[in-house]
Amino acid sequence: MKEGRPVAVETRHLIQVRYSLSTICLSSLLQDALEVLVEYHELTEIEGPRVAYSRAASVLKSLPWTIESMGGTEALPCVGEKTRTLIQEILQYGRSFEVEKILADERYQTLKLFTSVFGVGPKTADKWYRRGLRSFSQILADPDVQLNRMQQNGFLHYTDLSRGLSAAEARAVEAVVGETVRTVAPNARVVLTGGFRRGKEFGHDVDFIVTTAEPGRENSLLPLIMGRLEEQGLLLFQAHHPSTLALKKIPCRRFEAMDYYSKCFLILKLEGSRVQGGGQAVPAGRGWRAVRVDLVAPPIERFAFTQLGWTGSKQFERDLRRFARVERNMLLDNHALFDKNQFLAAVTEKDIFAHLGLEYMEPWQRNA
Ligand code: GTP
Ligand code: MN
Ligand code: MN
Repeated sequence: MKEGRPVAVETRHLIQVRYSLSTICLSSLLQDALEVLVEYHELTEIEGPRVAYSRAASVLKSLPWTIESMGGTEALPCVGEKTRTLIQEILQYGRSFEVEKILADERYQTLKLFTSVFGVGPKTADKWYRRGLRSFSQILADPDVQLNRMQQNGFLHYTDLSRGLSAAEARAVEAVVGETVRTVAPNARVVLTGGFRRGKEFGHDVDFIVTTAEPGRENSLLPLIMGRLEEQGLLLFQAHHPSTLALKKIPCRRFEAMDYYSKCFLILKLEGSRVQGGGQAVPAGRGWRAVRVDLVAPPIERFAFTQLGWTGSKQFERDLRRFARVERNMLLDNHALFDKNQFLAAVTEKDIFAHLGLEYMEPWQRNA
């Protein structure tokens, strides 16, 4: 205790610290429980509860206060009966029996394990589960299981990829990709997007948008970049999806989550020497680790919409699109903002927020 400070103040301070620790624990219990429920319904592809629980989670996350009793929870938007029961349970017992049941569920555990492999979605995972497969070794030993190229690489680099990336590693990846782009296309621009643009400390991949001012040139950018990465011996895997933008007519009736831009999903070799601090996750002796990188190359006039769409988070994107539709009667997606019978132009994300009548939100405010 510092000299000269009244004991009462110190005690009150201590009590406050203890109090906030217990409320932090409570709210993180609730967040974790909701995360499991969202994930469970995602894995089992049950859309209704997945949407309901993710909305409740993002409302509860954004509350300026922590929940200490049931009072007031009925007035919260998107917090339905089931979430309120969950809150009640956690308040009363400090745990949720439904969540514990899910966590112990063999199907949940297996689907979660299988979908943790790059290239394995809920459908494939469920197919394998229904074949009676329960472990990676069983999958790899089954002569009837055909792995595609992406899944083969997912298994091959599983340990590295499941480790996730630190912000320092993401910066190192940014430097490598930046140098590569400057070499093959000096006039192109590459910007960080996704979770690391939102300031996350940890992520599963690093996302970039690459653009050029020369119309039509964006379609040749990604092959050039991949070629150069290959020359440097840094390309471990690539899946390129050329643009299908011209084939589809915009406005499309159904504004979709995915977009039609040229994009590639990569696994790159990141050398430990490039990471500031040495890169703790780089296995000693080998000197490099595998990292997941996504690149998307929209036409320059679509840049703002791509940036808004790829910065995420996924929940923020869903909420923003829903806001546009329900509150403004507009359609927003990764390509455009459509209002009644016209497209609204945007050079920056700020223009899009302005069209929607919203105050601009910084990327770090979009972590919902
Ligand atoms: P991490 O798990 O740490 O990577 O978080 P993240 O927020 O960066 O997630 P992710 O890299 O999966 O996606 C970033 C944003 O890009 C999200 O808002 C996605 O909706 C969007 N996105 C990711 N992949 C695709 C894709 O193939 N097509 C489209 N249209 N959008 C994508
Ligand atoms: Mn990402
Ligand atoms: Mn990504």
